[in-house]
Amino acid sequence: MSVRDIFASMDYGPAPESATEALDWIKGHGGRFGCFVDGRFQHEGAVFETRNPATGAVLAEVTQGAGADVEAAVAAARRAFGRWSKTSGAERARVLYALGRLVQKNARLFAVLETLDNGKPIRESRDIDLPLVARHFGYHAGLAQLIEEEAPGMVPHGVCAAVIPWNFPLLMLAWKVAPALAAGNTVVVKPAEQTPLTALLFAEIAREAGLPKGVLNIVTGDGETGAALVAHPGVDKVAFTGSTEVGRAIRRATAGTGKALTLELGGKSPFIVFDDADVDSAIEGLVDAIWFNQGQVCCAGSRLLVQEGLAPRFVDKLKRRMAGLRLGNPLDKCIDIGAIIDRVQHDRIAAMVAGGGGVVWQPDCALPEGGCFFPPTLVTGLSPADPLMQEEIFGPVLVATTFRTPAEAVELANNSRYGLAASVWSENVNLALDIAPKLRAGVVWVNGTNMFDAAAGFGGVKESGFGREGGREGLRHWLKPAAKAVAARAPVDTPPPEQPLVEGIDRTAKLYVGGKQARPDGGYCRAVFGPRGKLLGHAPIGNRKDIRNAVEAAQAAQKGWAKATAWNRAQVVYYIAENLSARGAEFAARITALTGRDGTAEVQASIDRLFTWAALADKHEGRAKPVPMRGLALAMPEPVGVIGALLPEEAPLLALVSVMGAAIAMGNACVIVPGQAGALVACDLWQVLETSDVPGGVVNIITGPHGDLAKALAGHMDVEAVWSFSGADISGIVEAESAGNLKRTWVNYGRARDWSRADAAAFLAEATEMKTVWVPYGE
Ligand code: NAI
Repeated sequence: MSVRDIFASMDYGPAPESATEALDWIKGHGGRFGCFVDGRFQHEGAVFETRNPATGAVLAEVTQGAGADVEAAVAAARRAFGRWSKTSGAERARVLYALGRLVQKNARLFAVLETLDNGKPIRESRDIDLPLVARHFGYHAGLAQLIEEEAPGMVPHGVCAAVIPWNFPLLMLAWKVAPALAAGNTVVVKPAEQTPLTALLFAEIAREAGLPKGVLNIVTGDGETGAALVAHPGVDKVAFTGSTEVGRAIRRATAGTGKALTLELGGKSPFIVFDDADVDSAIEGLVDAIWFNQGQVCCAGSRLLVQEGLAPRFVDKLKRRMAGLRLGNPLDKCIDIGAIIDRVQHDRIAAMVAGGGGVVWQPDCALPEGGCFFPPTLVTGLSPADPLMQEEIFGPVLVATTFRTPAEAVELANNSRYGLAASVWSENVNLALDIAPKLRAGVVWVNGTNMFDAAAGFGGVKESGFGREGGREGLRHWLKPAAKAVAARAPVDTPPPEQPLVEGIDRTAKLYVGGKQARPDGGYCRAVFGPRGKLLGHAPIGNRKDIRNAVEAAQAAQKGWAKATAWNRAQVVYYIAENLSARGAEFAARITALTGRDGTAEVQASIDRLFTWAALADKHEGRAKPVPMRGLALAMPEPVGVIGALLPEEAPLLALVSVMGAAIAMGNACVIVPGQAGALVACDLWQVLETSDVPGGVVNIITGPHGDLAKALAGHMDVEAVWSFSGADISGIVEAESAGNLKRTWVNYGRARDWSRADAAAFLAEATEMKTVWVPYGE
């Protein structure tokens, strides 16, 4: 056979990796594993089988963790927390670094075990998963070392639950365990039932690395075990990666409990190819985007959007490339596509493709017998609303459509309930960098795909979840403020005094919606009295309809406001401060009348706070991340969108301008629900806003009962985030209702805030969404 013949057929001989060491490790444990709790494997209880999806062979029996296992693991983690959280960052850094080194030392064993348990090609587990795992521990060893400078005034949450999916079992463990330990937390990991083995091996090497017992615990089992762990009252934080459906269930289960939560969920990420793209590179990128890990990747580029003029040539070339993909034994080093995780997922993918319509194309490739294999698949001829264009298939299936203009590409790309990642291909860097900020996604790759690094944040927007993993932006989710909790004053409906003092003509305030004063839809208002029974005015009682109007106005205004330059927004916020200053005496008198204490200091503090936000408007900078790539990985803060906020009873003006100022300085629009006591102060503010060039709709004020309005705001599908500084019950309502579109929440669980402090870091983080944009230089 000549070299030319070899190139023509692309036939490879078999090049299998040996499974002996991995199988020996399983045998060494008698083929059965208990949970790993308090530094040692426990006796197995009821067990289930974990299988090799490429052959169907049973690999091991693993414990179906029950309530008692969860209990024991959380208790061990709690016991270990006291000492571990008090070790210095430098000490934790040593352990994390040792963990990374031991992962490197055992990389081949881990990679083979992962491939056996998951079915992914050894090429991927060996060259992608494992190096990234080691890098994650190395990077977070550094963050542990620097923690005092990195996160002053912050402390660990306590016991963290990490619920892991089956698609990147060890990598997702690393993404959670490394930052959790760096921050001083202890962890209980629940691996996916399909792929528990590498987590158990990791627990074993963690002992070798000197990790104290109880700091890391592994409870194996299925969704029920996961649900029991998440619901355990001893858990302080939950970090989940998996399906949007389960993410939503976890949001509901943890609502109002005070548990911190981050969710990394599904996606339907667009892969956008402009007609000036380097076609060969884009095709190779696409192969990586959708056939990496058999398409079982949350950020898979599963929706091809190709510019119309290029489409026939591109699709033709793609089909030829698909025909060359090698599918088979995942332990073979020359395999491109391995096995689907299990029969359930396989049949789910097959059913979606069979019933999804469109034109289905698959290359003529033989499927190995006995395992769960599915051929690479291309579906064309779909309309944007078709289920296959909208739903996550989570398999080696690409759907494709065309677009004509860049604006149409953006519209199609954003036509999804998900927002995890996106890929943009064009040789015109101006075009690509114009498109990147317009995409509603947490990660954008320019002329590339699937680039990851521990220094660069990863995570989604919309129903792809909230929170970031990796980078400094990821670390903050594993910490909380050290400040002692003081209970906030809950909103109270004070009964009217028996003998109200009425002087002069009583004023009825109005809501402020879309830049105009508005009467409440329900037509009711509430009399507001001062501490000595003096009638001060009437505050409108807003309802669900008023919230809807306000959100609509905010949505309409936000797009333009986000496009205003940061300096432009700063000027508007300075202007609000100036106008407030001009009417300072009036506001001070109002606060004095409402609270019985001199309002002058609060007005001064409010003017100062507005100056702070104006100053920060053009200073909340992004970063260029030092990732191991020639190119840029940019962390770019973007506005969240429409933010709803429920204010406390204390500091009526200062709390209002603190929240409003942070939100609008960062390019958001907001719907603000003032505290009951401060309603009239908020209603007075419209005159200030109107004279300060704040575009109509950027700030909306709805007064009324917090319970009803919180429900309406948090349940609204066009609100991207809700903040609550109100009572504890309102925090619970906000979290439960937010599950609908999985909006971000920032709630106080009824704890008071010290409004005299700007707390800029927290407000800026909550008022922005960090987008990572990867721009390789393309050598
Ligand atoms: P899943 O979301 O059910 O499982 C992920 C993890 O959550 C597993 O450890 C599971 O045991 C656990 N879990 C399940 N129910 C739970 C509950 N109520 N409370 C706490 N933990 C629970 O994913 P599944 O069923 O394995 O796959 C279904 C679909 O989910 C896939 O077809 C895919 O669309 C999506 N998926 C997305 C992933 C991602 O990385 N975004 C990863 C895995 C699945």
